[in-house]
Amino acid sequence: MPLPSRVQLIDVGPRDGLQNEKQPVPASVKIELVHRLQAAGLTEIEVTSFVSPKWVPQMADNAQVMAGIQRQAGVRYSVLTPNAQGFEAARLSKPDEIVVFGAASEAFSQKNINCSIAESIERFAPVVQAALAAGIAVRGAMSCTVGCPYEGDIAPERVAYLAGLMKQIGVQRVDVADTIGAGTPLKVQKAIEATLPYFDVDHICGHFHDTYGQALANTLASLQMGVWNFQSSVAGLGGCPYAKGATGNVSTEDVVYMLHGMGIATGIDLDKLVDAGAFISDFLGRQPNSNVAKAILNKRAG
Ligand code: HMG
Ligand code: MG
Repeated sequence: MPLPSRVQLIDVGPRDGLQNEKQPVPASVKIELVHRLQAAGLTEIEVTSFVSPKWVPQMADNAQVMAGIQRQAGVRYSVLTPNAQGFEAARLSKPDEIVVFGAASEAFSQKNINCSIAESIERFAPVVQAALAAGIAVRGAMSCTVGCPYEGDIAPERVAYLAGLMKQIGVQRVDVADTIGAGTPLKVQKAIEATLPYFDVDHICGHFHDTYGQALANTLASLQMGVWNFQSSVAGLGGCPYAKGATGNVSTEDVVYMLHGMGIATGIDLDKLVDAGAFISDFLGRQPNSNVAKAILNKRAG
């Protein structure tokens, strides 16, 4: 299959990244990060999540962050909503897209959202209907599609089961997520294959954490199947509080560098993206978790 000529990236750093930081990050810094991402050419940004502040205190400023963003035409701002309560709160912030998030692993579903896979789908169904009726797009994140921190390897049949349920309730596109970054290219391809009977390749996004350093290889393996939507995180921020030891998403800088090097367009200005990553990394007091960002920053310094 020919490789896609263009890739759409969703930066999940403000949400997946900053949900996992121990130190408090003020809303003003989150807002500035979103502004810098859109200035770098990102046209999809996962901004925050409307989850319980007792579970994830880092996202308690969700409404404040959404209200503080100066929206740019042509940019899609998405937020996570685990249930009706989250959706009702989120809709006041007028997101372009909401994300319901389930898991291919029962144990992870319990740990992350405190219910079984079947119960999660029952909760999501009215949220999806209400969002679509309100003209809000709906994405479904599927966690643990290759491995689970509690159950180990996940069979592709589990992914197919979840993808089928997501389709049934009206989810428009899904993320095939490697939550713990343990996947390798053939396993990721099997997870995508298992999703394809329910969602065509244009409605599948790759979401790869880079814990074991496999995310770029997994991205390439997905591109080879025709996938052209990916999530990544500026400066490689990220992790899930309910997947201990898992590190961030693959950095947007690394993905953009690889794609541009392959002649695949992203619409992103790599230099401005590196600046955005340096901004948040400086705030957090560390180097960006991105080989490309470090290389470019070193080159600039030299
Ligand atoms: P629960 O405790 O079962 O909820 O949590 P509940 O309905 O029984 O309500 C209990 C309390 O929570 C009540 O408050 C509710 O009002 C409140 P109280 O009466 O005790 O004061 N509550 C809420 N508050 C604000 N917003 C809400 C909300 N819902 C209930 N939406 C729940 C269930 C889903 C809420 C909880 O488990 C939760 O918030 N989980 C979120 C976990 C999370 O955010 N994980 C990280 C994101 S997923 C991820 O990172 C993976 C991904 O990146 C893909 C990948 O890599 O795999 C997407
Ligand atoms: Mg994630």
